[in-house]
Amino acid sequence: MSFIIKNIADNIATVTINRPEALNAMNMTVVGELHRAVNEAIANPTIGAVILTGAGDKSFVAGADIKAMSQMTKTEALKFGRAGHGLLNAIENAPVPVIAAVNGFALGGGTEISLACHIRIAAINAVFGQPEVCLGLIPGWGGTQRLIRLVGKGKAVEMIAGGGTIKSDEALRIGLVNAVVPPAELLTKAREIATRIVGNGPEAIRVALDCIRRGQDRSLTDGLEYELQAFADLFETAEMQEGTLAFMEKRPPEFRKD
Ligand code: CAA
Repeated sequence: MSFIIKNIADNIATVTINRPEALNAMNMTVVGELHRAVNEAIANPTIGAVILTGAGDKSFVAGADIKAMSQMTKTEALKFGRAGHGLLNAIENAPVPVIAAVNGFALGGGTEISLACHIRIAAINAVFGQPEVCLGLIPGWGGTQRLIRLVGKGKAVEMIAGGGTIKSDEALRIGLVNAVVPPAELLTKAREIATRIVGNGPEAIRVALDCIRRGQDRSLTDGLEYELQAFADLFETAEMQEGTLAFMEKRPPEFRKD
């Protein structure tokens, strides 16, 4: 039985982490299966957005599998950590937006997976937290690096060193999530955002994501120069020809042939 459920419709891939008996906690097998599913989705040229969610109505991902970690040696922990980093880097570097639809607990590695996504939508019952210090650990899948970039140092340190949890309204207030909706509307909301995205130019979106990603690690001057070159490069694309022509002909652009 697979720990991942994949569904493709209307140029949107929905990937569901399916281990509800452990609140979708991630062991090495789940990490590997999710990584393969993400790679498969983003390599498919017909896919313009990916939605990532958890099975059941209680949990997105309750973190790395604590029972499995309790048996790991340092060498095994390094391998497990690297596998997590590989997965989250694949999500973050995806050429299409990945939307986390957070349907409950997003703890430890669960918050970290959502942080690697480009957009986070939370159900009202979503709970975020980095409780690793309660286990004598630290966030090992990027939490010490990505959380600070999203919510700032003060809130990140409070969450990581305090090890407490925050509810969806607080997550919205500090900018950790884009929107909070009733649980029954979570996937509809995520699909609504994804549908809007897949109607736009895929090459332009890929380039915009690349500029945003690279800009985060550069000075403003370097980031602006990178953006300028990328902007000019797009003037040689069929996509730009179609987009501008469609505007002048007062019709919707047709970016996708599939
Ligand atoms: N690892 C392994 N199993 C987990 C798990 C996890 N992270 N989270 C939940 N489960 C399992 C429970 O052991 C339980 O299984 P059994 O019935 O076989 O005992 C099942 O899921 C249901 O969980 P609970 O009975 O605990 O459910 P609850 O509603 O009472 O509590 C909870 C829910 C508050 C999320 C609680 O399960 C919990 O605190 N889980 C751990 C959260 C956590 O600390 N996550 C961080 C992990 S460390 C990490 O992620 C490192 C990293 O940076 C990569």
